[in-house]
Parts: sequence; C-alpha cells; structure tokens
Amino acid sequence: MKPIKVGLLGIGTVGGGTFDVLKRNQEEIRRRAGRAIEIAMVADLNVARAREVAGAGCEVVSDARLVVDNPEIDIVVELIGGYGIARELVMTAIANGKHVVTANKALLATHGTEIFKAAQEKGVIVAFEAAVAGGIPIIKALREGLTANRIQWIAGIINGTTNFILSEMRDKGLDFATVLKEAQRLGYAEADPTFDIKGVDAAHKLTIMSAIAFGIPVQFERAYVEGIDQLQAIDIRYAEQLGYRIKLLGITRRTAQGIELRVHPTLIPAKRLLANVEGAMNAVLVQGDAVGATLYYGKGAGAEPTASAVIADLVDIARLASADPGHRVPYLAFQPDAMADIPVLPMSEITTSYYLRLKVADKVGVLADLTRILADAGISIDAMLQKEPAEGENEADIILLTHQTQEKHVDAAIVRMEALATVSGRVTRIRLEQLS
Ligand code: NDP
Ligand code: HSE
Repeated sequence: MKPIKVGLLGIGTVGGGTFDVLKRNQEEIRRRAGRAIEIAMVADLNVARAREVAGAGCEVVSDARLVVDNPEIDIVVELIGGYGIARELVMTAIANGKHVVTANKALLATHGTEIFKAAQEKGVIVAFEAAVAGGIPIIKALREGLTANRIQWIAGIINGTTNFILSEMRDKGLDFATVLKEAQRLGYAEADPTFDIKGVDAAHKLTIMSAIAFGIPVQFERAYVEGIDQLQAIDIRYAEQLGYRIKLLGITRRTAQGIELRVHPTLIPAKRLLANVEGAMNAVLVQGDAVGATLYYGKGAGAEPTASAVIADLVDIARLASADPGHRVPYLAFQPDAMADIPVLPMSEITTSYYLRLKVADKVGVLADLTRILADAGISIDAMLQKEPAEGENEADIILLTHQTQEKHVDAAIVRMEALATVSGRVTRIRLEQLS
C-alpha cells in the first residue's frame, strides 16, 4: 500500500519530537499501521531550523497554507498552537478534505464545536490525543476503553508545568521564577506561560475531557479557572502538617443539578496516589459506575511523550481513513445527534470541602465566633489547627478544614468572618477533595 502523506505545521518542541520518533520507529510503526507514514512536507516560520530537523527528502516551506492546499497531503498535523492562524489552517485543511491531527487544546476547547461540525460534514477525522495529558492515552481510554460506563467524575493533574513548579518549590525550596524558567527550558511550558500558571491550559484540557465524559459540547467559557499564582508557601506547609498536599487539579463531575467544571489548587490527602504525582508527570483519575476508579499516569508534556500521542493518532488515521465515516468513533465519544444539554454549574453551586486560614487576634472567644458563623451556615468542621503567635506578635493563624458544603455557604461565612474585628486581612480559602 502506498505511504500515507503527512504535512506538518510547526516543527518546534512537539513537531521536532514527532519527526524524530516517526523516523526512529518507522519500521515498527509501518507494521502496525499497515502502510508507511511519511512526513512529506513541513511548514515553519524558521525554515533553516526546520530543514536541519527534517533533513533531505522532505519539502520545507515557510507558508503553512501551501501544505493545507497541497492535494498530495492526506493528513495535516497542526503543531503551531494558539487560536489564530492555527484555526484558519485547521478549517482550511478540513475544507480541503484532509484529516487533521492536533495537540492544540486551546483551539479545541474554544472552537471545538465548529471544527468537529465541519469535519463531520466533510467526513474527515480530527484526532487530538496529544491535546490532553501529553503522552497518556486518556482520550482513547475515555472515548473507547470506558465506553460501557456512566462516568461520574474525573480529577486530574493535567498541567506538567505547574506540577513541576509545585514539586520543585516544595522539595528543593527553589523560587517560583527559577523553576518556571527551567520548565520553559525543558519545553513543558506554553508559548505564553501564564496559560500554565493561571490554570487556563488545564481548563482547556478539562473542557475536552468533560465533553467526552458526559456527551456535552466543549464549553471552555463556562469553566472556573484559578491558577497557582496566588498560592502561598505557608499554605503548602500547613496542608502538609494536616496530612494533605496541594495540587492544581482539574475536576469535572456529574451531579443531579448539572456539571461541575473547575480548575483550582486543591488539598488532597497525602496518601492518595494523585498526591504523589511529581514533576512534569500528569495523572487522571476517572470514576465510572461499572469499572470504579481507574488511574492514568505518565509524562504530560515534552517533545517525545507528546509525539507518542500524535503518532498514535496518525496510525489510527492510517488504519481508518478508508472506513465509512459513520463507523468511526465519534469525535467526542457520543454520536453528534445524541449530545446532552446539561448545564455547567456556576461555582456557587458546586459542592466540596474547604481549607480556611485566618489571622486572628489572640483573644478569648475568637474561636467561638468562627465556629458559630460556620454552624449558622450549616457547615461542619472536620479539623482545626491553631498556630501560636510568633515571638513579639499577638496574632495567631487558625486553619479550619470543613466537611462538604456548597461554595455559596462558604462564601457567605467568609464574608461574616472577615467582618469580625478580631480577624485581620482576608480569609485564605483553598478547596479540598478527599477523592475517595
Ligand atoms: P513550539 O513553540 O515549540 O513550536 C511551534 C512551532 O510552530 C515553532 O517552530 C514556530 O516557529 C512554528 N510556527 C509558529 N507560527 C507558525 C506559522 N504561522 N506557520 C508555520 N509555523 C509556525 O510549541 P510546542 O511544540 O511546544 O507546542 C505545539 C502545540 O502542541 C501547542 O498547541 C501546544 O499547546 C501543544 N502541546 C505542547 C506540549 C509540550 O509539551 N510542549 C504538550 C502537549 C501539547 P517559531 O519558533 O519560529 O515561532
Ligand atoms: N504546557 C503544557 C503543560 C504542555 O505544562 O502541561 C502539555 O500540554
């Protein structure tokens, strides 16, 4: 069978990794795919560097439009990133009848509906295993392996950069800026690293998983997004003392009222496997009604781990390209005409537990005031830690862990706590999940 011809858009970290792995393992990959997969054309702004990586025998151009318009190209692999030119190129490739592979979670989380609709109309495949959790085959697991299940919730460490930062800061005492630079040097960070730090990248990935898990459209605009930029070292230490670790978690859960879709720093019990996922590693915990909990762990970023997922998609397409489009696995796991219209809940309606840290005057009755406010709001306390004032100071830190409650009740209690004369400054609030 003649080779399937690939056009690669962007030969940076992931593009370079894809080229290398495909070259190194070409014989094994051909035996699996049933035909050779050949990168016939590469587009990159830096043509000289691209030529060096691609070598002879592969046409290199600076204008990516030449690739998506080339009738010889069967599959376009978009590894440029962002939602500008990448969107235009993907839409043109689809319009030209080409299958598309992309690692671009930002694009899919924001324009997925439009892209999948266009692809369905054209009968082409859009594959995106690399867009979520790098080398972990979580899309395949959710879409195919767990297809018998009614998925109840997913909780994941799905941003390598922030997990690397949190691990290095905790273990080596390094400062935030130094670790971020290292994450950028290692190729983990996004072109705009604020996407990593502020939780946006994790929310893009969570949005895609949520759509596949629950059969709802991708709705990034409804996700709650909080990053690690406001996290303080003292809370990481207090959490440890209470038997917890803080991780940037993406959580999506089906409830009777709607879907929770949220990314934020989260305390999780230190004994959970997820709490021990360190460095740039990712892990996704999926709870299904039949299978129970399953955990997927591996490298969530970097050139070759991500290339592993890109190439898996290429092999899938090489095998399926000639199949009747109606018999392919639907893009978002559910048939396009069977998508559900379940609302995504606002944060005030979500249910979880909380870590609250307050600075209080070291006076009689302070604790009674705090517990009364929580009791009035119907919030029950799970644990408490009081830190004596440091030498020469008269304010103490109080840390309260609550049982599960709705966020709106905690919000109301915090307003009342901050109004107390004995409480100084803002109450620090971090969500807590038992993940049991
Ligand atoms: P890089 O920045 O390393 O690579 C992007 C490449 O695209 C660069 O070589 C860039 O050239 C080139 N490029 C930019 N604009 C154009 C254009 N208009 N035409 C042709 N080429 C262009 O990014 P990554 O490889 O890290 O990421 C690529 C995609 O993969 C992104 O969507 C990212 O979110 C995703 N991803 C990345 C992972 C990672 O670990 N890095 C993991 C999972 C997904 P130049 O450098 O000259 O600007
Ligand atoms: N910037 C992303 C991360 C790359 O750090 O996880 C992988 O998607």
